[in-house]
Amino acid sequence: MKAIVVTDQTAGTAGMTLVERPEPQAAINDVIVQVHAAGFVNTELEWPSTWADRAFCDRTPSILGHELAGVITTLGYGTTGLSIGQRVFGLSDWHRDGTLAEYVAMEARNLAPLPGDVDFTVGASLPISGLTAWQGLFQHGRLQAGQSVLAHGAAGAVGSVVTQLAREAGAYVIGTGRAADRQKALDFGANEFVDLGEDALEDVGGVDLVFDVIGGDIQNRSAALIRAGGTLVTVVGPTQARPADGLAVDFVVESDRAQLSEIVQRVRDGRLRTNIGTVSSLENAIATFNSTERRAGKTIIRLRP
Ligand SMILES: NC(=O)c1ccc[n+]([C@@H]2O[C@H](COP(=O)([O-])OP(=O)(O)OC[C@H]3O[C@@H](n4cnc5c(N)ncnc54)[C@H](OP(=O)(O)O)[C@@H]3O)[C@@H](O)[C@H]2O)c1
Repeated sequence: MKAIVVTDQTAGTAGMTLVERPEPQAAINDVIVQVHAAGFVNTELEWPSTWADRAFCDRTPSILGHELAGVITTLGYGTTGLSIGQRVFGLSDWHRDGTLAEYVAMEARNLAPLPGDVDFTVGASLPISGLTAWQGLFQHGRLQAGQSVLAHGAAGAVGSVVTQLAREAGAYVIGTGRAADRQKALDFGANEFVDLGEDALEDVGGVDLVFDVIGGDIQNRSAALIRAGGTLVTVVGPTQARPADGLAVDFVVESDRAQLSEIVQRVRDGRLRTNIGTVSSLENAIATFNSTERRAGKTIIRLRP
């Protein structure tokens, strides 16, 4: 099968190669999925799990990509709940070969059924950004109706879902980002927008929840805005900042079939809009990743027409 692999941690996207690899085997509780579309997060090359397995041993050449939509072709021993020929979407294990390949082996529990009226490209755009937003807002941030959310990077893949889910939950959302992203963030439902290049973040006043996708100085300054009892949720590494009288939570998204189903149902009924920026083929994927053009929104690689 064709797959995109990396071997050199210092080479960046230029070190990616499209190669022939053996098709994967299904282990216990696995399925094999024929990948129709896969998402790619630009920061993947910085994740330790791209380079090492759970025992911290080198696992290169490793296949990139950890979210997909496709069709099940094989069930491993002991796998129940899904069937051959079923359309599915989900999040693959960070430490195993990923989804920028024609086939992937992954645990069945990390997949959810993809309804027939949802395109594979749309399905592949949802797992990482959708689950991250859901878990950050509702599990870790314990968001309640009437609260205010500072949604950083509100025009980005995660931030646009944060903005929409928070609005649906009855929150007041202050989106942030670059000047060019103002209208996009407002279109996703932000009540107001802070241009991090021009506006003073401090003018926002107090908020109940900060959803951080940027880190650094922005994270530090945002933590200072959190009201008593509020929460800083971050997905960009261990928290550096802590609210004076609140919680700080850093987390890595986990797969959850029920949450995937909640998310895709919202796409079907129009409560959630996808944020797909670039769609490319497996053959053109590396050129797409290497491009210096700004890619706003999720990058999807379509493996089958
Ligand atoms: N821990 C987890 O489980 C988890 C899960 C998902 C994502 N993540 C991480 O979360 C981060 C965001 O992911 P994503 O897929 O949402 O990326 P994305 O689509 O690139 O969205 C990030 C948004 O924030 C904007 N932004 C970044 N730095 C900024 C700054 N200094 N000022 C203004 N705007 C800024 C970006 O603009 P530009 O494109 O112009 O920079 C972009 O619009 C990544 O680091 C990713 O690795 C972590």
